[in-house]
Amino acid sequence: MTDVGRHPRIKLHTLSEVVDVKGYVGNFDVKIRKKARYVVEKECTACGECARVCPVVRPDEFNSGLSSRKAVYSPFPQAVPSAYAININECLGHNPAVCSKCAEACEKGCINFHMSDEELEEKVGTIVVATGIEPYDPTELDEYGYTRFQNVLTSVEFERLINAGGPTKGEVVRPTDMRRPRSIGFVQCVGSRSARKGSTHCSNVCCMNTVKSTLVLKEHHPDTEVKVFYIDIRAYGKGFEDLYIRSRRTGVHYLRGLPGNVEEKPDGGLRVAVENAATGSIEFHDLDMLVLAVGVEPAKSTRKLQEMMGLQLTPDGFFLEAHPKLLPVDAATRGIFYAGCAEGPKDIKDSVTQASAAAARAIRLMHTGEIQTEPITSEIVAEHCRSCGKCVEVCPYHAITVDVKKKTPAVVNTAACAGCGTCAAECPFGAITMNHFTDAQITEQIDVMLAENPQEKIPAFACNWCSYAGADYAGVSRLQYPASARLIRTMCSGRVDESFVWRAFARGAPVVLVSGCHIGDCHYINANHWTEKRVEKIRKKMAKLGVRPERLQLEWISAAEGIRFSRTMEQLETLRRGVTADEIAETVEVLAKMGKEAR
Ligand code: FES
Repeated sequence: MTDVGRHPRIKLHTLSEVVDVKGYVGNFDVKIRKKARYVVEKECTACGECARVCPVVRPDEFNSGLSSRKAVYSPFPQAVPSAYAININECLGHNPAVCSKCAEACEKGCINFHMSDEELEEKVGTIVVATGIEPYDPTELDEYGYTRFQNVLTSVEFERLINAGGPTKGEVVRPTDMRRPRSIGFVQCVGSRSARKGSTHCSNVCCMNTVKSTLVLKEHHPDTEVKVFYIDIRAYGKGFEDLYIRSRRTGVHYLRGLPGNVEEKPDGGLRVAVENAATGSIEFHDLDMLVLAVGVEPAKSTRKLQEMMGLQLTPDGFFLEAHPKLLPVDAATRGIFYAGCAEGPKDIKDSVTQASAAAARAIRLMHTGEIQTEPITSEIVAEHCRSCGKCVEVCPYHAITVDVKKKTPAVVNTAACAGCGTCAAECPFGAITMNHFTDAQITEQIDVMLAENPQEKIPAFACNWCSYAGADYAGVSRLQYPASARLIRTMCSGRVDESFVWRAFARGAPVVLVSGCHIGDCHYINANHWTEKRVEKIRKKMAKLGVRPERLQLEWISAAEGIRFSRTMEQLETLRRGVTADEIAETVEVLAKMGKEAR
């Protein structure tokens, strides 16, 4: 951290918050709010005289509230920059008549109550999101008595206690009497892997953190009785199984089963009731201290950043990578990368590995000095554009701008456009052309496909990344599927224009399939949400026109789901056989009357 602070080519903004991000790869504009420090950073030598005289005492967040700090303080000993800061909400000194003791004590005159927050702007080419995680707060799990009993700690608090730089200099003591506990219990998976409270995901780190803590405890005090209550121990990293075995060999008792109740005894000790899953019996364990190995949750800033930068989140709230195997550190938005727990819970080694990969990916982009834009991008046909702003609304990459008031035609930033085609499909005026997947190219495919015996064919619009690849997989796996299937590839299901569906029905298709990646897996952030809405809208129109809505099907098929593709086509074949020649002819007639064909 110190090296980062001193590096001539790294600008470190501490006490700062990103408030807005605009732009695209190579040209991001980042707005930052830098909070006032009220101490002149360059002058402060962190001598600590100000903190010595400050009368305000508050819990020290770095030590999880197990020690105290003053209103003027350094967050932790190795903090960068090495300068104190004043928490102005706690300080009495902004009214000098009341206090200002720190200002009097500081010989260098570093205290300045007139500082105010600043707004800064940085222009950057790439962004690495490394916002980390929050530990789970076990207050809601009342059975463990975290808020009721002082000798029940979280693993984060215990970590500070056992740390040589912590409030007790590494001495493990009970908060109630400051004496060394003779017996300590650890409860695993607190707030993780639970559908009831907390999160369903595994924290990835709490098993090995507990194993490490038990080893440190046993090393310092071999006579301490240590018990670990667990569901199962996950020690799958390099060397981790060895550590676990070592922990067992030192006499740590691992007991399968999570406590159902904790009670406090008059001496501050704890009585833990647990069902031992190995024996099926209820056991009571008397312990001096209980440590809750808490899970982890996405950082509080995650959702705000996601909205600001147009990123994707997983169902458990972490950032979603562009592709788990091919682009594991890239965001779907070009030029943005992830490092560490922002993308999912991981230990230090994995975080460092991912951070190195993210840095390399970012440098690789910046090193070239220029980027090649994708040929598959959208283009505005200015004379047709009515500046309605629909394209701006649906673009997952914020790649389109339009001045609705001035009524000037929309503009596509081709460096930011990823080519999903949702804008072209949603534009009500046909004012957007999707290069390489134009309306003309796609309708031509529909026409040729249905030129002869259309009643025997099923046009299937398949997105390039998932369902087209799923069909391909079905093929290479030699899976059988009906010969009626006729695929039309689009980059994303978001490109499937309403007019393509009408065109297919107007040309005599008995059934039409629109298929794409599963919701949440779309390679263009959330473009397939628009597909879903559009298909629903078309079905309603079909019903109004007297066309059976079942004849239009929407299926999510991933690249690995060859079997699903073949089964879907079999089901559609059954559906196709149920559509009579009269029904098709009626649809063709109705659509011809309505003029429902491609633009
Ligand atoms: Fe497959 Fe969007 S990329 S649905």
